[in-house]
Amino acid sequence: MRKSIQITDLYPNKIQKLDSSRIQEIQHQLKNWDQSPIAGFRTLANEDEKNLRLAEEIQNYVQLLKEQIQIESVLLLGTGGSSLGGEAVISGLYHGAIKFIFADNNDPDFFSQKLSQLNPKTTLIYAVSKSGNTPETISQLLTVMSWLQSACKESWKKHLLICTDEQKGDLRKYAEIYDLRSFPVPTTVGGRFSVLSAVGLVPAALASLNLREFQKGAHSEFINEQENFEESSVLKMALFLCEESTTTFSNHIFMPYCSSLKDFSRWFCQLWAESLGKEGKGYTPYPALGTTDQHSQVQLYVEGPKNKKIIFTEVKAFKNPLKLSVPAELKKLENFSRFENKSMLDLFSAELKGTRDSFVEKNIPNITVSVDKIDEYSFGALFYFWESVTAIAGALLKINPFDQPGVERAKILTKEYFSKS
Ligand code: PA5
Repeated sequence: MRKSIQITDLYPNKIQKLDSSRIQEIQHQLKNWDQSPIAGFRTLANEDEKNLRLAEEIQNYVQLLKEQIQIESVLLLGTGGSSLGGEAVISGLYHGAIKFIFADNNDPDFFSQKLSQLNPKTTLIYAVSKSGNTPETISQLLTVMSWLQSACKESWKKHLLICTDEQKGDLRKYAEIYDLRSFPVPTTVGGRFSVLSAVGLVPAALASLNLREFQKGAHSEFINEQENFEESSVLKMALFLCEESTTTFSNHIFMPYCSSLKDFSRWFCQLWAESLGKEGKGYTPYPALGTTDQHSQVQLYVEGPKNKKIIFTEVKAFKNPLKLSVPAELKKLENFSRFENKSMLDLFSAELKGTRDSFVEKNIPNITVSVDKIDEYSFGALFYFWESVTAIAGALLKINPFDQPGVERAKILTKEYFSKS
């Protein structure tokens, strides 16, 4: 089996050792969660009949859809965990002609401006909501429904695909009322842990990506974790990030050196913030990008408050190293001549090393996750890896990482103000 994720660098080069009773306690907590009604993300990493069938069903349906509609654009309705994973997949792995738009907001000017750029007759709408009750998504859906109906008349339904809880919620009922094609989010899988369900796999299929490779990548991490939990990378990562009280190193900077992971950082930040920020605990995650943020954030990381841990992601092989050549007339210029016989990748790799070593010199804790290359397999592995680290972090912090009670109050008040508006 291809090995995708490794922890290659670590500073300080030690991770707290937990005694065996604490390890057992954590494993016990994880098992309890696995059986709870909302923590079923691990089931999406099984190589079982159900997941194989899901991948096949999605792939076949998308093929059929592409025969029925000339898809030029895909508009994804949804927010938070229903949107960020799919967006990470598409922006990281897709370079084709279909235009993907992830609304992830119900700012009316933003939304109408996006709609005005689309032709409804060549657009597919993918409306995603785990609960099926999220007002942002329903307001997007109502807008889009009349937009489709007026342009596509009786064939409007062909342009709308639903993804929601397999049993409950108003979006499920909506799909039934209009007899729309829908894919399920398993009841046991929460929004921000759902990317490896139809939530993320349908956009991937629309982009002609290989769904089985996502599943295989996730499965490989699942197996690594199961085979030797005590030595696993997921446990090491969680221990490294969560070993001190959440007030000492209260900021976790997610800094991949890979533009394909730019939106993956946003997905990670939601997972980390919403899962662990509760009961006065948690860490503020921040999405950075190498090398871009060397010219923006790194000054703060190096000389600002010593309250940050940096999580680098390194990709071992890039497709196009981009060899550089220096014209003879530029060889006298020091800042050009140093590129002779080098590639852009040589520079990029040196920048990661240089930045990381400068952090070490300043005593800034950092850890590097390495993946062999960027593809569906490594994305699947990375998704599972971070979901699992988050679950373990919850167990270490003694909080439930699968709920989000802190956002409920704003939802209640919003309903109240909205009904009075
Ligand atoms: O992780 C979560 O549960 C949230 O971020 C949700 O994904 C987000 O609130 C959207 O909810 P829903 O998918 O039910 O529309």
